Amino acid sequence: MKRTENTNELEAKKQLDIINELKERFDTEFKKTGIRKTYHIETFGCQMNSRDSEKISGILKQIGFVETDTEDADFLLYNTCTVRENANNRVYGRLGYAGKLKKKRPGMLIALCGCMMQESTAVERIKKSYPFVDIIFGTHNIFKLAELIKTRLDNGEKGGKHINNMVIDIWKDTDLIVEDLPNDRKFPFKAGVNIIFGCNNFCSYCIVPYVRGRERSRNIQDIIDEIKSLADDGAKEVMLLGQNVNSYGKDLNPKISFAKLLQEVEKIDGIERIRFMTSHPKDLSQELIDVMGSSQKICNHLHLPLQSGSTRLLKIMNRKYSKEDYLDLVSRIRKAVPDISLTTDIIVGFPGETEDDFMETLDVVQKVGFDNAFTFLYSKRTGTPAATMENQIEESVAKERFDRLLGVIQELSAKAAKRYEHTVQDVLVEEVNSHDENLLTGRLGNNMLVHFPGDPSIIGSIVQVYLNESKGFYYIGTLV
Ligand code: SAH
Ligand code: SF4
Ligand code: F3S
Repeated sequence: MKRTENTNELEAKKQLDIINELKERFDTEFKKTGIRKTYHIETFGCQMNSRDSEKISGILKQIGFVETDTEDADFLLYNTCTVRENANNRVYGRLGYAGKLKKKRPGMLIALCGCMMQESTAVERIKKSYPFVDIIFGTHNIFKLAELIKTRLDNGEKGGKHINNMVIDIWKDTDLIVEDLPNDRKFPFKAGVNIIFGCNNFCSYCIVPYVRGRERSRNIQDIIDEIKSLADDGAKEVMLLGQNVNSYGKDLNPKISFAKLLQEVEKIDGIERIRFMTSHPKDLSQELIDVMGSSQKICNHLHLPLQSGSTRLLKIMNRKYSKEDYLDLVSRIRKAVPDISLTTDIIVGFPGETEDDFMETLDVVQKVGFDNAFTFLYSKRTGTPAATMENQIEESVAKERFDRLLGVIQELSAKAAKRYEHTVQDVLVEEVNSHDENLLTGRLGNNMLVHFPGDPSIIGSIVQVYLNESKGFYYIGTLV
């Protein structure tokens, strides 16, 4: 469907009508039984999926479901990820369990959505081996959830039984961006805000462009309005989300840069911290570095995926930067923001990776001195160019390199954590510590965690904390 303001608005109106219709049905049932139907969402994968789950949760609450923290719910949804093979396997494992729950709970609805559902092989396997699943939808039409539930309920009623009436609705791609549907935020004080959907980069190992479609930027005014309303509701921190935030606005008319968007967000009263994820090194402009350097609100943390330090491999990965480009970028960023924390993603065992290639990766890791890194064993994704490349690496070789890399990263992150020991830092207080209810947990600007004694009434505010001791991944602190 071609995107116009008009079709987006019409679609939103249609969905709101269906939400209201279902709400009436659910209310009537509640009046009869006195019991509200429950829902549970299990979210796999990245921040895009977490944000989608908030939107799904908003729709379900509006219909009249209440959230429960167990999978034994009237509506159970798995929001899936497929970036690596093990992400898929986890979902199949959970589905087996869900099937058992459904046997004991008549009328239970099981739904699947997210990136894995954009792959026809996964959907075929589910149809065959997990026929008790009720609804499958993809990444492009989560706004249709109420309509899909309605279809499933109507089918079920017609057929008289809740089996083999699977509703499947998966779109290849879309131009639609449907705004203004219900929304349920996990925290009132910090929020993820989508700015661009999809990815055009086609890194040769990566399945994301195939399952999330082409890049689509949201209108700047919609983004600003959303952040203003979040700030009015008490948000202190926003995280701007996209597979590659640096591509923001290239598809808008008139074009606008990500750096300009950041400057607009900076002006919003009440917002004290701005983060963004993820930046592709090839598109990180000097304009953005300058804005980061002069900003009062952009956090001193940048996640800048390296993937490999070998220029030869980077080329085969289709990353479009060299080892030298990456190091030069880091030095320009450090010049503008001297105390910045840099974190990264690295893949080990990409097809054809030699010991020399791997040493180049270690060299960049040491030279940059990352504060932390997510390290991944290369996983073959069917349909991507790398999956059919010759020289796939033996798992034992990849694993050995992976362990060496992990050792280096752990040393670096322990060293990085020491940097702030015995200093006072601004901390956004997020929650009561899950292991010790006398402690609160908060985050530094560089995204590290700190646990400290305090009263839960300060949750959601930014306070100053003295960092007594670094424990590697987190600090123990004292309120000042
Ligand atoms: N858009 C983001 C990343 C999304 S996927 C970006 O470009 O940075 C998150 C990470 O998963 C990637 O950075 C990459 O390191 C890893 N990844 C993606 N595909 C992978 C694969 N096939 N095998 C192993 N790791 C992979
Ligand atoms: Fe995947 Fe590359 Fe796009 Fe990131 S930029 S989502 S790694 S294709
Ligand atoms: Fe996974 Fe999809 Fe994110 S594949 S990493 S949930 S974009």
